[in-house]
Amino acid sequence: MDASVDAPIAPALLDWYDNHARGLPWRLPPGTPQPVNDPHWPYRVWLSEVMLQQTTVAAVIPYFARFITRWPTVLDLAAADEGEVMAAWAGLGYYARARNLIACARAVAARGSLFPDDEEGLRALPGFGVYTAAAVAAIAFGRAAVVVDANVERVVSRLFAISTPLPGAKPAIRAATAAITPDLRAGDFAQAMMDLGATICTTRSPRCLLCPLRPYCAAQAAGRADAYPVKAPRRARPERRGKAYWIARDDAVWLVRRAGRGMLGGMRALPDDGWHAGGDGEAAAPLIGPWRAVGDVTHVFTHFSLKLELSLYSGNDWASLAAQDGEWWPLDRLEEAGLPTLYARAAQLVAR
Ligand code: ADE
Repeated sequence: MDASVDAPIAPALLDWYDNHARGLPWRLPPGTPQPVNDPHWPYRVWLSEVMLQQTTVAAVIPYFARFITRWPTVLDLAAADEGEVMAAWAGLGYYARARNLIACARAVAARGSLFPDDEEGLRALPGFGVYTAAAVAAIAFGRAAVVVDANVERVVSRLFAISTPLPGAKPAIRAATAAITPDLRAGDFAQAMMDLGATICTTRSPRCLLCPLRPYCAAQAAGRADAYPVKAPRRARPERRGKAYWIARDDAVWLVRRAGRGMLGGMRALPDDGWHAGGDGEAAAPLIGPWRAVGDVTHVFTHFSLKLELSLYSGNDWASLAAQDGEWWPLDRLEEAGLPTLYARAAQLVAR
């Protein structure tokens, strides 16, 4: 059989999902009806979907467990201290998501703790884009929403051998996904597409022999599954340079809180020279010196890579810090500071 939106793609995929779904802590077993009267359920789905954007399932699992233990309901999260939520998020990256998470929890709490149950209502909440609204509408509320993430893009572009390069292919991929999304079990269908993309229809070396959609896949019929999705050539990432400063006194290190908006906004960090996406850092060091070079850390952000050089203060005049924003943080509790990965790795340079 050839690739066609009329092929029994959803039944074949759901059949496969019934037997092969990954057991994940935010999921119900395949085929379980949405527990419509349980307000915890949309909260779990939403929290997991926000965490899973740009982050792998394996990385999210321990964070999800910690959040649910510490803030079991959306009301608990709405009442949480913002700094504590940011610290608990540290390491997951894309920190604007965490800021929106708190804003959204507060907006939902203000509506009596109930999430809206359709895409349009969800889209009005902070941090909800097209993807999150569709995913939560489908998975938490059983709506026949069209859920397209990078996994779905890969699966669908292969199924229909869509040869337009991404991102131009997005409308065609969305239309094809809409055509094969079932009215019933749309949440399972979306998650089945994601599981297929993660375990079988993988970026490299897809395992077509095991694929339940093999009879319907145009790319596989042409023996070219790994040629899709076609991608427009990427522009090179600019390389930025920055400096960070390690100032220790007795058994504590000087940490700052980054400004609310912008890169890693709201997170605790080592003081630095104001590096940014558009250029190198240029702000003065927090103390005059002497400084000793410790090494550097390279970190890749979405739009640039950063080489952060770490210097250690080897003097003994800390007095001028008293007039600066920051805090002495005990070195033996550094993991609890919630440093984003970039600064946690810089701190490890000193420990070596
Ligand atoms: N990626 C994003 N959402 C997901 C989900 N619900 N299950 C598995 N992978 C996902």
